[in-house]
Parts: sequence; structure tokens; C-alpha cells
Amino acid sequence: MTLFDQDHGNRVQVSISVNATMNARSFLARHNRRLPRYTSYPTAPLFSSRVGPDTLTDWLTQIPGSAGLSLYVHVPFCDKLCWFCGCNTTVVHSVAALERYAQAVQIEIARVAAAIGRRLPVAHVHWGGGTPTSLPAPLMRAIDTAIGFYFDMTNETEVAIEIDPRTLPSDAAATFAALRITRVSLGVQDFAPAVQAAIGRHQSLEETKSAAQAARKAGATSVNIDLVYGLPYQTVDSLTATISSVLTLKPDRVALFGYAHVPWIQKRQQVLAEQALPDFQARFAQQERAAELLVAAGYCRIGLDHFAKPGDRMAEASGTPALTRNFQGYTVDAGDALIGFGASAISSLPQGYAQNVTPTANYLAAIEAGRLATSRGVELSCEDRLRRTIIERIMCDCRVDIAAMAEDARMSPVIFNDALQALDTLAKDGLVWRDGWTVLVPERGRPFLRNVAACFDAYLNMPDSSQTMRHAAAI
Ligand SMILES: C[S@@+](CC[C@H](N)C(=O)[O-])C[C@H]1O[C@@H](n2cnc3c(N)ncnc32)[C@H](O)[C@@H]1O
Ligand code: SF4
Repeated sequence: MTLFDQDHGNRVQVSISVNATMNARSFLARHNRRLPRYTSYPTAPLFSSRVGPDTLTDWLTQIPGSAGLSLYVHVPFCDKLCWFCGCNTTVVHSVAALERYAQAVQIEIARVAAAIGRRLPVAHVHWGGGTPTSLPAPLMRAIDTAIGFYFDMTNETEVAIEIDPRTLPSDAAATFAALRITRVSLGVQDFAPAVQAAIGRHQSLEETKSAAQAARKAGATSVNIDLVYGLPYQTVDSLTATISSVLTLKPDRVALFGYAHVPWIQKRQQVLAEQALPDFQARFAQQERAAELLVAAGYCRIGLDHFAKPGDRMAEASGTPALTRNFQGYTVDAGDALIGFGASAISSLPQGYAQNVTPTANYLAAIEAGRLATSRGVELSCEDRLRRTIIERIMCDCRVDIAAMAEDARMSPVIFNDALQALDTLAKDGLVWRDGWTVLVPERGRPFLRNVAACFDAYLNMPDSSQTMRHAAAI
């Protein structure tokens, strides 16, 4: 390509940089597959109705007396909806409807506790959504009281909540103190007005700051901020400005999620201006710049998309088995089993996953009819369990010793011969280093951790394309 200069040397330089850009683009295009986030394995599209209330009851009765639990409470309501949001949530203002939901969650807690048959200690409670504070404070307290009645909340129990800084009620600080909230996650996404207009979410730095202050004043010792890249009209510059604003709030952790655009599944995303979405190369540049800025600000990079201050529990857990993955992403949650309450909530037990029915009306109907609301899930085979552990360690530690893990599971590593071949393709692009059965993901490969994990996914390449379409692009 001869673009401008008469000078031969310059012309060569231009050609080289154009080639480098084209190479970078084709390199990214090669790896930009639709892939799961691997918050579970097998992944949610593989859940089926073979797991129902009876299966979950059976699994609950088998939880040993020595186990510690994690509890997740899903509140599928928001005061207003953001168009980019991929979560199970709707706008509900009727107090009667909110009361009915909170009542159902309390019944579900009692029913699950009855199946377990003993009052087990709780390591971690997570209030997620939606926006949990869209439940009036007395309803949140009633659910908390039910948890405390049926389970053993200790001084060590971590209680986390997702909050929308725009809609935090004036009594939120008192509620957080009553619920003994230790960690809050604040959604920010991007502060640029053009991005906020495009996603239907107007949020100032000031309201974000006052939400973080309220949480800290109420006793929360950890403040997380969720950022998103790849949104309409978002640029490296808008994200850079957002990060410098966010850093003034001194968050303990930052999560940097790639916008998952799946409008064929999440209909509200159809109103987003698709032509304004950054392409995969622009998304990659945003993600790289954001990570650089956070690391330069002193944060430790954790797995694919988390950053934690040195000294934070997550930073300390990094590189150890204490860092794991659950449906919220990375966690240091120490529970032996996770039990989900509320519509669409997923439980993760040693035997497998069980998910509650998603539409709130169906959830209420099941609970009010005297049943558990489980509608689908998957029971793990021994091989699933081994693959799950390998995938989790790759996503958390960026390294794995396949032979050692197979030996622990009393299985032969030869079942991973196909995985090794797939890894060697990634190795050619420098995304993986492999020495025999030991796999290491270097820094260059970190943004492609899902691609590395996918090498161990026995179900991903099954000839059912509908499964692939459930996932967002990896970059
Ligand atoms: C489910 S929201 C709950 C928190 C709270 N309602 C709020 O708005 O801040 C938690 C986070 O999920 C992330 N999220 C939601 N939809 C997403 C999507 N389509 N792609 C990537 N991240 C998304 C955003 O970072 C959001 O802040
Ligand atoms: S991002 Fe938060 S507030 Fe917005 S729709 Fe999703 S859950 Fe609701």
C-alpha cells in the first residue's frame, strides 16, 4: 500500500503499521468466538428439566453436617430498566407484589432448611438482582430474619449486596447496617453522557460517591465497582475518563465486564443503537487500556476481569484455591454449597446445579403450591467434575496441571488429548504455554482465558448451534 509520502523510508513504515494493524485484526478475529463466561461447568444452556424439585431436595438432604453454606437471594426488580442489562429483572412498583415476592422467598428459605434438616453456618450471603434495594427495607429485613432463623449467621459471615447508586433509598444506610452488609457492588458502566444516553442509564459521579459513602458509613468494609466496556458510543477515552473518576472513590475491587450483546435472548437490548457498538478490535483496545490503568493505579489483576487492591481478600486469595468462581464471577466465598433463593436463582451443590424457574409468576406459583421452584439443572458426572475443576483453576490461576488434577480425580489424562490439540493452536498465537500436561496462560493470553477454558469444554462443539448463540462474543 503506497499511501502518501515521497520518502521511501516513511512509505515502508506506513506499510508495516498497516500490516501490523491488519495482523492484529485477523489475530483477534481468529479468537473472537461466542463462548461461555464459565461461571459454571457444564454451562447454563446445558441445564435441562431432568433436575427438578425432587432432585434438589435429595441433594439438600445429603449436605453434610460439617458443611458451610453460601446463600444467594435474587431480587428480580428494578426501579427503572437499563437497556444494556442482561439480567433477569423487571420494573415492579406495586407494594403488594413486592410483599408477595418477599413472602415467597421466606417460605422457600424455610422449605430448603427443612430439607437440609440442620442449622448450618453461612460463610457468605449475596443479595443480587435486579436491584435488591427495590424491596422496601422491612421486606429485606424480613428475608434476613428468615435467613438468621434457619441458618447460622456468624461474625465471619460476609454479606454482599448489588446496588444501583441512582435509586438508593434514603433509609439504605440503616438497612445495610441492619443486614450487616460487609460488601457493596455499585454498577457504574461509563460516566460519558453519550454512553449513558445510549444505554438508558443516567448516573453521576456524585450519586455514585454518595452511595459508596453511605455503604462505608453503614459498616461495609469493601466497595466494588462494576465497569462495562464495549457499550454503544464508548471509546478508550470515555473509559479512561470513567476510570480516573472511579479511582477517586478508592474502590477495593473493580470488575471490568465486556458488554454481552445478546438481543435475541434479552429483548430490551434491541433498543440499543447497534451501529454505535464498538467492533471487536475497539472492544479489545478498551479492555486493554482499562486493565493497564487499573494496574498502574496499584490494583492486582485477578483472572479475566477483576482487579483488587493489595490487601483485599480477593487479592490475597489470588493464586490460591481460595479464589473460585460462582455465578457472580470471581469470589473468595468459602461455602461448600451455594443455595439460591428467588426467581431464576441457581444453586450449586457437589452433585450439580439446580435453577429456579425464571418468570416471577411461575416462581410464586411453585412456592405457593407448596413445592420448591426448581425447573432445570444438571447432575455432574465424574468427568464433568474434573473438567469443571480444570476450567475453574484456569479461569482463576491462569495455570493448571492437568495430569495432577486427573490423578486426584482417579481418571486418566488421556481424555484431554483433544484439549491439548486445541491448546496447541492457541499456543501458536502465544496465548498459552504448554509443558507436557502443565498449561500456563501468559499475560498476553489473559484476555483469552475463556478461549483456553473452552478447550476443556466437552459440550461446546456439539452440533447444536443454538447453544453457541446463547453466549456473547469472547472479545
Ligand atoms: C445485574 S446488575 C445489578 C446491580 C444494580 N442493579 C446496578 O444497576 O448497579 C450488576 C452488573 O451486571 C453487569 N451487567 C448487566 N448486564 C450486562 C451485560 N449485558 N453485559 C455485561 N455486563 C452486564 C453490570 O456491570 C451491572 O452493573
Ligand atoms: S443494570 Fe441494574 S438497574 Fe439496570 S436494569 Fe440491570 S439490574 Fe436493573
